[in-house]
Amino acid sequence: MMRRIAILVVTAYAIAGVAAADLVRPAADVELLLARSGGDATTEVQTGSAFTQHPETLEGQALGQFARGNRIFSTPWIEAPASVTHFDGLGPFYTRRSCSGCHVHDGRGRPPAGPDDSAATIVVKLGRPSPSGGRLPDARYGGVLSERAVGGLAAEGRVVVEWDEIEHAYPDGARVALRRPRIRVADLGYGPLAADTRLSLRIPPAVFGAGLLEAVPDSLLAALADSADADGDGVSGRVAWLPRGTSAHRRAGRFGWKAAQRSVADQVATALNEDMGITTPSRPRTEITAVERAARSRPSGGHPELKGAALEALVNYCRWLAVPVRRGLEDAAVRRGAHCFLDSGCASCHIPTLTTGAADQPAIGRQVIHPYTDILLHDMGPELADGMPEAVASDAEWRTPPLWGLGLAETVNGRRFLLHDGRARTLEEAILWHGGEGSRSREAFHALRVTERRDLVQFLESL
Ligand code: HEC
Ligand code: HEC
Repeated sequence: MMRRIAILVVTAYAIAGVAAADLVRPAADVELLLARSGGDATTEVQTGSAFTQHPETLEGQALGQFARGNRIFSTPWIEAPASVTHFDGLGPFYTRRSCSGCHVHDGRGRPPAGPDDSAATIVVKLGRPSPSGGRLPDARYGGVLSERAVGGLAAEGRVVVEWDEIEHAYPDGARVALRRPRIRVADLGYGPLAADTRLSLRIPPAVFGAGLLEAVPDSLLAALADSADADGDGVSGRVAWLPRGTSAHRRAGRFGWKAAQRSVADQVATALNEDMGITTPSRPRTEITAVERAARSRPSGGHPELKGAALEALVNYCRWLAVPVRRGLEDAAVRRGAHCFLDSGCASCHIPTLTTGAADQPAIGRQVIHPYTDILLHDMGPELADGMPEAVASDAEWRTPPLWGLGLAETVNGRRFLLHDGRARTLEEAILWHGGEGSRSREAFHALRVTERRDLVQFLESL
C-alpha cells in the first residue's frame, strides 16, 4: 500500500506539472526500492552490454539514428587526409581515437594503475585559478593535456600517476586501505608547464541516462538547491548556472564531474574537440598554442570535421542510452541497506527521485526517474579538491554523480573505479572520501556496525 501511494504521488507531480518546489521533500524508504530507474527508458539487460541499450519504444527513424550514432561512437578516427570521407581529421593533438576508447561499452574509465601504465582511459585538465574567477589554461599546453599526436608531431606529454596509501580505521577495529593519486607529466614536448599550473585527473563516467538528466527542468534543480543551508543539515548544494551564449539567459550545468556542460550536445562537442581534436560547428577550432605552431600546418578533415546529421546522430545516441533495471530488490540486505542509506543522509545529495520535463522522445519526456543525484555542486572538502576551479565550480566543488547502474559497472568494465579521479576501488572507499558537505554522511557511515556497512554497500550494488 505504502509503495503504491509513493508512486502515485510522484507520478501525479510529473503529469500535473506541479510547482517544482513541491517535489522537495524527504525521500520515503519505499522509493528506494523501485526497479525502473530510467522510467520508460529502462532496459532489462543486465549483462556486459547493459549500458549500450536503447529504450524499447525507440522506433523508425530514431532507431536508425541510434544505430548510426553507435557506429560513430565506436569508430576510431584517423589522420587527414584519408580515402574515407567521414572519419578523418583526428588531432593534431588527441587523447583517444574514439569515444568508446574511453567510454568502453558506454561505461566508466580507469586511472593508471601506476607510473608505467599507458593504457588508462583518462583526461587530465590543466589550469590555475583565474583572478576573475574560473580557470586559466596553461600558456604552453592549454586546458587539457593530450598524450598523443598525429604522425611525426611531438605529443604534449605523458601522464604519470603514483598512488599514496593511507589507512582508515573503524571504531570496531576494522581497517581499509585508501589511496590518493600523485600526478605529474613526463616527456613534455614543448617546454615546461607553468609553475602554478595544476593537474586534475578525471575518469570517464558512464554515458547512459544522459538524455534523462538533460530533461530534468532547471526549475526543479533551483528548487532543490539550498546554497545557504537554510535547513541546517550541513548540505548546501548549488546550481551550476552557466550563461547561455552571449545573452543573459542562464542554464544549469549538469554534465562532467564539475557540471561544466549544460547539454549533451555541448558535452559531445567538447569531447570531440578536446579529447580527439575534431571540430564541429560550435567548436570550429582545436586548441594549438603558440609554442605548438608546427601543428597548424597539418591538413584538416573538413571545416568543420563533424557536422549535420552525423553529429546529431552521435548526440542522440548518447541522449537515448537506456538505464539498467534494478536487481535484488527482494533481498533482505538490500532492503536494510536502503534504510542505512537514508539514515546516513546520503539521500540529501544522491536524491532518489527526479522527474523530467518535455523531451523529443516519449521514453525520455515526463518520466519519473531514480538517478540518485540532485545534479548540484557540493563542496566535498580539501581531500577531494583538485586545486582548480572550472566553469562555476570551485576546486573543492563536484557535481553529485548519479549512482544508477553502479552495481553493474564491474560487469560492464571488468573493474570499477569511483570518484572523479578513480582513486576509490570499492564503494566503501568512495564513501570514506566524502568530506566537506559530505562529512556528516561519512561520519554516519563510519559509525555503522560492520553488518550495516555491508547492507548499505549491498543496496548500492542493487542500483
Ligand atoms: C580521453 C577520454 C575520453 C574520450 C575520448 C571521450 N570522453 Fe566523454 N568523458 C570523459 C571524461 C573524463 C568525462 C568527464 C569530463 C569532466 O569531468 O569534465 C566525460 C564525460 C562525458 C559525458 C558526460 C557524462 C556525465 O554524466 O557527466 C558524455 C555524454 C560523454 N563524455 C560523451 C562522449 C562522446 C560522445 C565522446 C566521443 C565524441 C567522448 N565522450 C569521448 C572522457 C572521454
Ligand atoms: C553533500 C552531498 C553528498 C552526500 C551527503 C553524499 N554524497 Fe556521495 N558523492 C557526492 C559527490 C559530489 C560525489 C563526487 C565526488 C568526487 O568525485 O570527487 C559523490 C560520490 C559518491 C560515490 C562515487 C560515485 C561515482 O560515480 O564515482 C558514491 C558511491 C557515493 N557518493 C555514495 C554515497 C553514499 C553511500 C552516501 C551516504 C553515506 C553519500 N554518497 C553521501 C555528494 C554527496
